[in-house]
Amino acid sequence: MAKEKILVTGGAGYIGSHTVVALIEAGYEPIIIDNFSNSEESALAGIAAIVGRSVPCHRIDCTDAAALRGVFEQEQNIAGVIHFAAYKAVGESVEQPLKYYHNNVGSLVALLQVMGEFKVTNLVFSSSCTVYGIPESLPVTEQTPVQKANSPYGNTKKICEEILTDLANSGSRIKSIALRYFNPIGAHPSAKIGELPLGVPSNLVPFITQTAAGIREQLTVFGDDYDTPDGTNIRDYVHVVDLAKAHVVAVERMIGGKVEAIEFFNVGTGRGNTVLEAVQAFERATGEKLNYKIGPRRAGDVPKIYADVTKATEVLGFETTSTLDEAMKSAWDWQLSLQDKSKK
Ligand code: WQD
Repeated sequence: MAKEKILVTGGAGYIGSHTVVALIEAGYEPIIIDNFSNSEESALAGIAAIVGRSVPCHRIDCTDAAALRGVFEQEQNIAGVIHFAAYKAVGESVEQPLKYYHNNVGSLVALLQVMGEFKVTNLVFSSSCTVYGIPESLPVTEQTPVQKANSPYGNTKKICEEILTDLANSGSRIKSIALRYFNPIGAHPSAKIGELPLGVPSNLVPFITQTAAGIREQLTVFGDDYDTPDGTNIRDYVHVVDLAKAHVVAVERMIGGKVEAIEFFNVGTGRGNTVLEAVQAFERATGEKLNYKIGPRRAGDVPKIYADVTKATEVLGFETTSTLDEAMKSAWDWQLSLQDKSKK
């Protein structure tokens, strides 16, 4: 007997697709909503190859309330929604802020309106550690002050959290959990789903794997003059499979009726690693020698951030289990599978 039906917006995306797999493995019935503006149909085949069946997908834009209404009318007994659908390229958001405000904020507002009409009251929202800006102290807890965002992308996440908070305080029956991701990396161990960066990757790990695969000439490490053990930035790299499981635990908490209004959780490993440590982990895990150089700092980079995960551990009962090396190996296996596909 399938457990509850969960709508997953952006379910064909990087974190969305891994979460759809985790939901099925936990006995839920995920229904994907995706407009494929920043994901590929091949992710649906990858999910099907892992779980042994195809997952229903509605090809609609989440900013289109009428289209969302159609999905809610068609899908009966929706127990909850996980909202991933958003653009997430920091640099692009600086160049095209309206695209980000329209899509990231507009889609949440449209979704909340339709959820209200259909009395669907459980929402898990995809937020980001970017809301912490440059933290005063480390590791960051959920009480670390949210700061002015460094980019329109980060501001959309901050605004969405405020929308959810205001809605909860308005006495709305919609309850939500906002998961503040640190740096998602890696891919499903089957290498059938993973990150599909469009164009030149801005994120570290896909740039590493594309460099090792010969697609990129050389990785540039953005600065080694920071106040860290080896001078390079510190991040909390979390395996996407662990991150996906955090969403299942959040859904279980929502459906269990344990959320009063809105709750925030950091989702990371609780460990910080420098960029050079990440590169060394990749080389150790794959046996590949990476061609990289040290270059200038990247504007807007937060020098150091990693999570205090006490709250997720104690309240959600969630802890990550993968190591940085395992995450890097899975990223490399995924890259190799893409090369194989491109040869066919
Ligand atoms: C990680 C580290 C870079 C590329 C962003 C968003 C965040 C989330 C993840 C969406 C930094 C260094 C990177 C390269 C490098 N996005 N780096 N050379 O900036 O921590 O976070 O992506 O949810 O919200 O802000 O991730 O992977 O870009 O960078 O040296 O070619 O790797 O300086 O220290 P970031 P990233």
